Amino acid sequence: MADYDTIDFFTDPAIVNDTPAYLAHLRARCPVLREPHHGAFMVTGYDAAMEVLGTKSAGFSSAVAVTGPLPPLPFTPDGDIRAALAEHRGEMPWTDHLAAMDPPEHGANRALLTQLLTHSRLKANEDYVRGLVVRLVDGVIARKGCEITRDFAHALSTLVIADLLGVPEEDRAGLIEELGAPPTQMGDAAHKAQSDPLAHLAPRFRAYLEARLAEPRGDMMSDLVHATYRDGSRPGLATVTRLACFLFGAGQDTSARLLAFAFRVLGDNRAVQAKLRADLSRIPDFIEEVLRLENPVKCLSRLALEQTAIAGVAIPAGAILTVNVGGANRDPAHFPEPDRFDFDRPNVRDHISFSRGTHACLGAPLARMEVRVALEQFLARTRDIRICEAEHGPPGARRYAYEPTYLLQGLEALHVEWDPA
Ligand code: HEM
Repeated sequence: MADYDTIDFFTDPAIVNDTPAYLAHLRARCPVLREPHHGAFMVTGYDAAMEVLGTKSAGFSSAVAVTGPLPPLPFTPDGDIRAALAEHRGEMPWTDHLAAMDPPEHGANRALLTQLLTHSRLKANEDYVRGLVVRLVDGVIARKGCEITRDFAHALSTLVIADLLGVPEEDRAGLIEELGAPPTQMGDAAHKAQSDPLAHLAPRFRAYLEARLAEPRGDMMSDLVHATYRDGSRPGLATVTRLACFLFGAGQDTSARLLAFAFRVLGDNRAVQAKLRADLSRIPDFIEEVLRLENPVKCLSRLALEQTAIAGVAIPAGAILTVNVGGANRDPAHFPEPDRFDFDRPNVRDHISFSRGTHACLGAPLARMEVRVALEQFLARTRDIRICEAEHGPPGARRYAYEPTYLLQGLEALHVEWDPA
C-alpha cells in the first residue's frame, strides 16, 4: 500500500488502483486538505464539494478545470486575482475550451450547445444507438466473452458521438486514432497537461463545418455552424470548431469508461445482477449507483478568485482546489455505508459524477441513454455475465488495472464471459 501522506496524487501512477482508500484517508483528516506537492486543496467531503461547485462557485474560476494544479500560474497571486487572470488567461493551457471558460463567455458558448442537444435530437439518436448496439452485440455474442472496453464500449461511445455530430462514417476510425491517449497522463504529467490533444482534430472539424456552412446536412455540426449567440451575433468558425472538437472528445471516452464499470459491477456482484435481470426497468437506478462508485471523471479543479473559506478552511486568493468526485461520492455523512453497491439508496442520484452548477455535464442524458440501451441489450441476450478469472483472478482477489491519469478514471481492460440466452 502506498503512503497516503506523502504520495503525489497528480503524478504517481501507484495511486490509481487505490484512489477510494486514499481519498477516505484524506477525508478522515479533513474534507479540505492542502496536499504537499503542488499546494492544491484536496476537497473530499460532499458538503465541501457542493460549496465549491454550487453555493460559493462565483468565487472560483474554471480556468484550471482540466489541468488542475500542474502547470504553474503565469502570474503571482496578490489579493483578488480577477484582473491578473483576465490578463494572462490566454497563456494558460486548455482555457479556450468550454469546460475551462468563465462567465460571461462560458454562458454564451454553453447556450450554443444546449440549443443543439435537444430532447428530440437525443430521441432520434436513441434509434441509431439501439441499432448500433444490436450490431455490436451481434459481433461478439457467439464468442461467449470479450474484452469489453476495446471490443464494445469504445466503439459504441465513439460511434454515437460521431453520428450525433455528423462525422462521415469513413473518417471515424481515423479520428479515434488521431485523438490518441487522454490528457493528464501521469509520469510526464506536467508536460502532457499543457498539450491539447484536441488541437490535432481542429483542421478536420473545421473542414466539416465549412462544408456545412455552404450546404447544411441536418446534423448537429450543420446546426452548430449556423447557430447564433442570444444577442444575434455569430460565434465564428474558430469558436465552433473548438466546440465541436470538445464535444467529440468529451463524448467519446467517458461513457465507455462508465459502461466498462457497469459490466464489472455485474460480474463482481451476482446478487445485483440477478436483481437487475429480474426487473430491467431498474437499469437507470443501477447506472446512477455505478456512477457514484466508479466516477469516470476523477476530479474537477477550480481557482480561487478571492480569499474565501470552504468547510471552514481558509482558502487564499489564487489557490487551486481539486474537488475529488470519488471523495464526495463516498462521503459517509451523505451516503451511509458508502462502499456498498446499493441501487435502492433513496439518494442514488445525489452523486456529483456529472459535476454540479454552471459547468455540469451537457452530455449526461446522452451518456445515460447509451449505457442504458447497451445494458438492456446485453442483459436480454445473455444469461449470466462473469468476470474472466484467467485475466482478473478469482472473486475476493481480483486484479484490475486503472488508466494512469489523474483526471479520468477507467479500466485498462475488462475481460468478461457470458452464456448466450
Ligand atoms: C459517463 C459519461 C460522462 C461523464 C462522467 C462526464 C462528466 C463530466 C463532468 C464531471 C463535467 C464537468 C467538469 C467541470 O465541472 O469542471 C463534464 C462537462 C462536460 N461534458 Fe461530460 N461527461 C460524460 C459524458 C459526456 C458526453 C457523452 C458528452 C457529449 C455529448 C459530454 C459533454 C460535456 C460537455 C460539453 C461539458 C462541458 C460543460 C461546461 O463546461 O459547461 N459529456 N462532463
